[in-house]
Amino acid sequence: MEGLSLSSRVTRFLLLFVFLVCSHNWHRVHASEPVLELMKGFEAKPDSSVELFQPLLTDPSGNFTFGFLRVNRSRLSLAVTHPNLTDPLWVFDPTRSASWSHKTKLIFNGSLVISDPSSRVEWSTHTNGDRLVLRNDSNLQVVKSSSVEWESFDFPRNTLVENQNFTSAMALVSPNGLYSMRLGRDFIGLYSKVSEDSQQFYWKHSALQAKAKVKDGSGPILARINPNGYLGMYQIGNTPIDVEAFNSFQRPVNGLLILRLESDGNLRGYLWDGSQWALNYEAIRETCDLPNPCGPYSLCTPGSGCSCLDNGTAVNGECTHVSTSEPADFCGGDEKVKFKVVRRGGVEVPFKELMDHKTMSSLGECEGMCVEDCKCFGSVYNNGSGFCYLINYPIQTMLGVADASKVGYFKIHESVGKKKSRVGLTVGISVLAVLALVLTVAMLFVAFRIWSREKRVLEEDGGLSPGPYKNLGSDSFRSVEMSRR
Ligand SMILES: *[C@@H]1O[C@H](CO)[C@@H](O)[C@H](O)[C@H]1NC(C)=O
Ligand SMILES: *[C@@H]1O[C@H](CO)[C@@H](O)[C@H](O)[C@H]1NC(C)=O
Ligand SMILES: *[C@@H]1O[C@H](CO)[C@@H](O)[C@H](O)[C@H]1NC(C)=O
Ligand SMILES: *[C@@H]1O[C@H](CO)[C@@H](O)[C@H](O)[C@H]1NC(C)=O
Ligand SMILES: *[C@@H]1O[C@H](CO)[C@@H](O)[C@H](O)[C@H]1NC(C)=O
Ligand SMILES: *[C@@H]1O[C@H](CO)[C@@H](O)[C@H](O)[C@H]1NC(C)=O
Ligand SMILES: *[C@@H]1O[C@H](CO)[C@@H](O)[C@H](O)[C@H]1NC(C)=O
Ligand SMILES: *[C@@H]1O[C@H](CO)[C@@H](O)[C@H](O)[C@H]1NC(C)=O
Repeated sequence: MEGLSLSSRVTRFLLLFVFLVCSHNWHRVHASEPVLELMKGFEAKPDSSVELFQPLLTDPSGNFTFGFLRVNRSRLSLAVTHPNLTDPLWVFDPTRSASWSHKTKLIFNGSLVISDPSSRVEWSTHTNGDRLVLRNDSNLQVVKSSSVEWESFDFPRNTLVENQNFTSAMALVSPNGLYSMRLGRDFIGLYSKVSEDSQQFYWKHSALQAKAKVKDGSGPILARINPNGYLGMYQIGNTPIDVEAFNSFQRPVNGLLILRLESDGNLRGYLWDGSQWALNYEAIRETCDLPNPCGPYSLCTPGSGCSCLDNGTAVNGECTHVSTSEPADFCGGDEKVKFKVVRRGGVEVPFKELMDHKTMSSLGECEGMCVEDCKCFGSVYNNGSGFCYLINYPIQTMLGVADASKVGYFKIHESVGKKKSRVGLTVGISVLAVLALVLTVAMLFVAFRIWSREKRVLEEDGGLSPGPYKNLGSDSFRSVEMSRR
């Protein structure tokens, strides 16, 4: 007995030693020789031991890396990353991901092709280049002799890098998919996805046209971050029709500027100052001016923060739980969709200058328009101006104001409250069931321990004690973990 356990210990240590030596060498190879270009014939598969990012290609300055990024634990995205940004600068297709498994394969055969039959992902650059390179500004390019066949700068995700051209055919989309930035005829606009098929404009920056005017027939405008610290809008040549200044505007700085549309809907600029990404620009400065800072059916009041429209206390930080299975509006075919009504003063629509309104003579007339229209979720009436705003999508964060004569009327699906209590009941029952199971297992365990102790006493402790085996197991585990760091 004793001898067997010793030899199995030795075998374990030998195996661990071999594993450590191998993994150490593997890491060293990757660290000392960054790959600067991928040639035809290149193939790669995700490594199951990689926890976050598997580098495949690095730019000449060593700042940016292209490779496999693990998302949601088991999914894989092709991404360009910077070590000090948690979010990638570019991903191959924001709406899709492959699986992190040996079935997924990346090749370069003139095209960069990723395929994963299990997730039905087949993405390609459809090019016939010689090599794939990563530029020192994070631009990933398929190059043929000296001409660029394809570049990631033409397909931005949520980030725009200094000197990258943003055209009216492109969009920046926030990582959560809710917000987008696009160009209009003479403006930059931010849009929020408020329902499956509609967008709400929430921020607009129109070109001042001080140095150059927008000319019809001269083509669409484009936007580009200028190293001198601004986001410029251009139509012809390099004379901007507008300059949206960053904090570093006209101050000579040494570093790279980027602009990102983030998951709260804000557009922020960052400057790499050699050690960190410093905030350098923010399109929306007031929290309450963001598209949905407090969630559905809430109120954001400058200076006092978030509250709920119906004064009810928030559950899990939400005023109303809006489930995705909810009807899209209050129409519901033949049967009437039930709803309750919340009415309150001191409410305004956010970004009202970007919302349509009708002029009505009274509050009753304005509310009446919404009551009759099953696509309407709420209305806000301004008694002073007579403006009536109708909201045709699920209510998000409204703006709280001091003027009590601005009155909001909101419909809330009746099913919402019922669903929540049913969920609560289900959770309660499951908790009880789990408790009962745990108790049973504990009782069985105690019974087993008593039985086995009695047995062991009878055998006068002659058998194999489970102690040392278990300890060895956890020790070797710890040493593997430590050596990984
Ligand atoms: C990760 O999971 C979230 C939530 O389940 C989902 O919305 C998102 O699309 C997933 N991302 C990818 C790349 O699969
Ligand atoms: C940037 O990332 C590198 C690599 O992860 C790290 O060593 C360094 O400390 C980071 N710098 C800052 C300022 O966070
Ligand atoms: C590269 O491989 C893909 C997928 O196997 C194939 O469809 C494509 O024709 C190949 N391209 C070239 C240039 O060989
Ligand atoms: C980036 O590369 C270009 C040439 O491609 C070079 O002119 C420039 O100085 C490089 N910038 C940095 C920061 O290394
Ligand atoms: C952006 O567009 C300008 C003019 O339209 C062009 O001169 C410049 O090379 C483009 N920049 C990049 C990085 O493609
Ligand atoms: C890129 O690397 C150089 C040195 O190699 C460093 O000075 C510079 O700050 C880095 N830039 C970024 C954006 O990381
Ligand atoms: C909520 O409370 C405010 C102030 O306490 C009050 O003015 C308002 O009428 C209340 N609204 C509702 C829907 O109860
Ligand atoms: C709305 O305005 C009318 C006259 O302009 C006034 O009589 C009425 O009291 C106002 N209502 C409220 C709620 O302020």
